[in-house]
Amino acid sequence: MRILRTIAEVRAVVADARSGGASVGLVPTMGAFHEGHLSLMRAARDAHGLVVVSLFVNPTQFGQNEDLGSYPRDEERDAALAEAEGVDILFAPEPAEIYPDGFATTIHVEGVTDVLCGARRGPHHFDGVATVVTKLFGIVAPDAAYFGQKDAQQVLVVRRVVRDLNLPVEIVACPIVRESDGLAMSSRNAYLDAAARRRAAALNRALAAGEAAFAGGERDAARIVRNARAVLADAGIEPEYLELRDAVDLREIAQIDGDALLAVAARVGAARLIDNRILRGGA
Ligand code: PAF
Repeated sequence: MRILRTIAEVRAVVADARSGGASVGLVPTMGAFHEGHLSLMRAARDAHGLVVVSLFVNPTQFGQNEDLGSYPRDEERDAALAEAEGVDILFAPEPAEIYPDGFATTIHVEGVTDVLCGARRGPHHFDGVATVVTKLFGIVAPDAAYFGQKDAQQVLVVRRVVRDLNLPVEIVACPIVRESDGLAMSSRNAYLDAAARRRAAALNRALAAGEAAFAGGERDAARIVRNARAVLADAGIEPEYLELRDAVDLREIAQIDGDALLAVAARVGAARLIDNRILRGGA
């Protein structure tokens, strides 16, 4: 595996691989790898001749009071893990390589960014994600890019960018990887102390309660959300949001008659955690 810092180097390696007939898979990350990231790398490895993993803690998607400064960083460990998964290129640029002086373009997606994490973290968050991901697509020109379904809203935002800007890249959403007690793997789980770590498992249990109500025939959104909320309340967790929305455009729904996204965000101890389930109500 090669660690590359510049756009020119990445472009040269990608061009070389393409001239040899290889397809290219991209896994965009901010590092602090866990099994979730590694599952994306494996999916890309299975499908492509060249696998590029980007490692860039993207400053534009963090708000002023968020954790940009404390976000876990350990490039040496990440590089070893990526290499063990057979990744070809770890693209780990400096911020100035991605945002040189005079950088003045932002990709803004309307609609799906106005709710859930977009409403709580502010518009800069998904603007930052959409902009950096679009740049990575321009730099790597991948055939496919791999994202974790834990960030369900991010997946929808990226799909919308790709559709609206006619970008020739397939977006692959990979299943959420969970700890043995069901907690969704996240780099931010590192912020949890032992007590918070135990409470954090309630997020998955809350989603499971909503899912169980749905599986039992419940289609009323408010009742499903109430079931889930009760589990969080038992664990002493007040969610930032716990909502059931249309799984494609994130509009509010009162009844499930298509695929729905049951999504939660909550602060548990020092970590802001998110998780979700798709409830498949389509024909
Ligand atoms: O999901 C992430 O780690 C980030 O939001 C991403 C997609 C790498 C963009 O910075």
